[in-house]
Amino acid sequence: MNWSDYEVTIPAVKTANELETLEQKLFGRKSGLITEALKGIKDVAPEKKKEFAADLNMWKKKLTILIDEKKKELLGADDGDSIDISLNLPKKERGHLHLIPEFIREVEEVFGRMGFDTAYGPEIETEEFNFNKLNIPADHPARDGQDTFWAKGVKNTVLRTHTSPVQIRYMQEHKPPFRMICPGKVYRKDSDATHSPMFHQFEGLMIGKNISLANLKAVLVTSLQELIGRKVEFRFRTGYFPFVEPGMEMDMMWQGDLSTSREGKWLEMGGCGMVHPNVLEGVGIDSKEWQGFAFGFGIERPLMIKHQIPDLRSFYEGDLRFLRQF
Ligand code: PHE
Repeated sequence: MNWSDYEVTIPAVKTANELETLEQKLFGRKSGLITEALKGIKDVAPEKKKEFAADLNMWKKKLTILIDEKKKELLGADDGDSIDISLNLPKKERGHLHLIPEFIREVEEVFGRMGFDTAYGPEIETEEFNFNKLNIPADHPARDGQDTFWAKGVKNTVLRTHTSPVQIRYMQEHKPPFRMICPGKVYRKDSDATHSPMFHQFEGLMIGKNISLANLKAVLVTSLQELIGRKVEFRFRTGYFPFVEPGMEMDMMWQGDLSTSREGKWLEMGGCGMVHPNVLEGVGIDSKEWQGFAFGFGIERPLMIKHQIPDLRSFYEGDLRFLRQF
């Protein structure tokens, strides 16, 4: 075989094994054809030696290149030192927070900027904190089995029905003046499109000197407007909560291209008012010297208005088609 025959043979090789065999045949240390031929240079007649050596080296180079090229072709990037940095990997999917914890963070941030401290309290509460210290009399309807989940076998213990007990816990530990908010889960025996047995609230409390309903309104309207991210209509109406006097409820209007018949109707956001003197005195705060407001708002409700979500239960169903929209 002539060296030039290998110019055909090498490119025609089909497998890496075949190529390996061929490489050994030509360049093998012991009896490779090229190896042997190189060794033979010394026996060539002196006048032909130069030409013979030059010719042989030319073929050695040529065939080496052909073998290397073939190797690359057969082994791809696997030949040890080539990394294909142009490779397009599929985009990594990144998760994100669920709407509710995301909103809670925003609440903490917006109120934080207005000087409100963030506090947390237990979800399993005593009757004392959930009701008594909030001036809720023993015969108040909120106490009966209809609304409240009472703990079985543990006396006077409930799943908290609102975040208001954290007001009490906070006031027992801090001296006025102070401002705090408390986000968290609350529980009630209730379930329909705008109620769930577990939902979230954020409580607010501001105690100081000369605090009035005007401050309450300013804080609520400013913060909710910012949290919703666009102009919404609010309405305050009188409401009864034993732990505030006067007490109010605040509603927000369904606005936008909502695909339900709720457009233009009001949705209740929560209750608020001036902290009742009995509550202040109960935690040892002189109600002649200090006064302030409190509010307890739903978290799902403003989110429903913000994102035009018609059914509150969508928040908890874990349906990715719903969750991925936000
Ligand atoms: N805790 C009340 C509720 O859950 C709301 C509220 C909080 C009302 C603070 C007044 C002041 O309905």
